[in-house]
Amino acid sequence: MRIPFIAGNWKMFKTRAEAEAFALEFKELYQGTDVRTAICAPFTDLATLVKLFEGTDIGVGAQNVHFAEDGAYTGEISVRMLEDIGVDYCIVGHSERRQYFAETNETVNLKLKKLLEGSIRPIMCCGESLEQRDAGVLFDFVKEQLVEGLAGISADDMKKIVIAYEPIWAIGTGRTASPEQAEEMCAFIRQILIELYDEETADEVIIQYGGSVKPANATEIMNQDEIDGALVGGASLKAADFMQIIDF
Ligand code: PGA
Repeated sequence: MRIPFIAGNWKMFKTRAEAEAFALEFKELYQGTDVRTAICAPFTDLATLVKLFEGTDIGVGAQNVHFAEDGAYTGEISVRMLEDIGVDYCIVGHSERRQYFAETNETVNLKLKKLLEGSIRPIMCCGESLEQRDAGVLFDFVKEQLVEGLAGISADDMKKIVIAYEPIWAIGTGRTASPEQAEEMCAFIRQILIELYDEETADEVIIQYGGSVKPANATEIMNQDEIDGALVGGASLKAADFMQIIDF
């Protein structure tokens, strides 16, 4: 039985004071649900959120991490540093990081492996561009992201990874994939996991959809059989909107 998991991705939004205001408002609204939830925030907000969400079951996630233990990597943050703060999740391979920060399937793979040595659960993003969809290569492309990104990861570790299917053309555009399009790819992803691992493993993996999820479309997205959650960008910035999505 997969417990739905809905996570916010704040991207590069919110100062500490803004994060604090969100957390206080969200805690007021949050009565506990059957859904697992987390906010993936900028590094500078993480300690504030961990503190304010203490004693609740609201998780906190980072949006990136480096794959080395430590070292001369100016500007980077290690897994140990995130663990030290008490972070529960970390997004890996978001399309914005692939596009603007040279993230590749190979670095995604290294980051997943480093996270899996410790206690932080990775949220691995995948998804095609509009050109790839139009050219009909969407399934090949997502398969390659999975095969290369997950190379050498054991079945036990795979069960700890959350996969977020985020078609690039639906991110921040207001153009959501139709529930059928999202379901089709999430079912395909589970099929790939069966090929790479086995049915039992694939059955346990949480697969989220991301891309313009908002209160108005959360229910039909979440009602799909193979979609176990959502990764929510813009609509996670307002506590009331994010709460409505969790209450889908
Ligand atoms: P969006 O972003 O909900 O604003 O489209 C989703 C994401 O990038 O995770």
